[in-house]
Amino acid sequence: MQKAPSMEEQQKYDWPGWPLESNPHGEDFDIAARKRMVLGSIMLLPYLRRYKKEMGKVILEVGPFFNPLVTPLEFPEVIIFYWENDHHVLRYLKNRYQEQVYPIFCDLNKIEGDSLMRLKLETQRYCQREHLKKIAFDSVVISHVFNYIDYKLFLLVMKEFLKKDGLLFINNVVDYGLPAFFSERRPTAVSETLKAVKGSGYKILHKKMFDSSDSKHQKNRRLVVVARSNER
Ligand SMILES: C[S@@+](CC[C@H](N)C(=O)[O-])C[C@H]1O[C@@H](n2cnc3c(N)ncnc32)[C@H](O)[C@@H]1O
Repeated sequence: MQKAPSMEEQQKYDWPGWPLESNPHGEDFDIAARKRMVLGSIMLLPYLRRYKKEMGKVILEVGPFFNPLVTPLEFPEVIIFYWENDHHVLRYLKNRYQEQVYPIFCDLNKIEGDSLMRLKLETQRYCQREHLKKIAFDSVVISHVFNYIDYKLFLLVMKEFLKKDGLLFINNVVDYGLPAFFSERRPTAVSETLKAVKGSGYKILHKKMFDSSDSKHQKNRRLVVVARSNER
């Protein structure tokens, strides 16, 4: 039988807007699922640390939720942007990191036309505050988000935001997460994901597949990719 979570654990995983007590997703987002998500997310951390010197001074993390990988503590001296569509998360990150980061509302399922223009303007506003002439991220980090979006469109659109030679860090497991929010345009396989990354103009510097240690909750292998944007 599983040990009941301690009070401290309950608090750690009881997130604003996502209360454990009235969790509509059942086993898909109970405390154990939340722990699995956070543990899976930090599997990208060694890669960020390995490439830290090359990651540059302006970094975007997409969909950080309540446990960003790119934090002022881990990346001092870096200008940190977050793109996120959950208002509870945006509020939480603003409170937690105050003026040290730039959390920006972004619905990744609307990154075309007027919505994309608004996202650019909002991001540009903060770039100006930092005396950056234009939006050009040195690196972009995206962990456990591809299943919720048109990831191929994301890969293409990011070319506009990433510097030439900028780095992209991906962490994803096909069909893992909250099915209620899955996109029809999510990746269907590791091979397809790698093909899309290459086909969108990124050079893969590093790829690693991790077998699942919990086939009940995570059927597929985890893919971690570090890629370089070839052109802009
Ligand atoms: C499963 S969580 C991943 C959290 C963390 N990055 C990790 O690795 O575990 C998915 C994140 O993506 C965000 N997200 C989901 N759909 C999104 C969308 N359409 N636009 C922007 N962010 C989205 C969620 O709010 C959440 O922060």
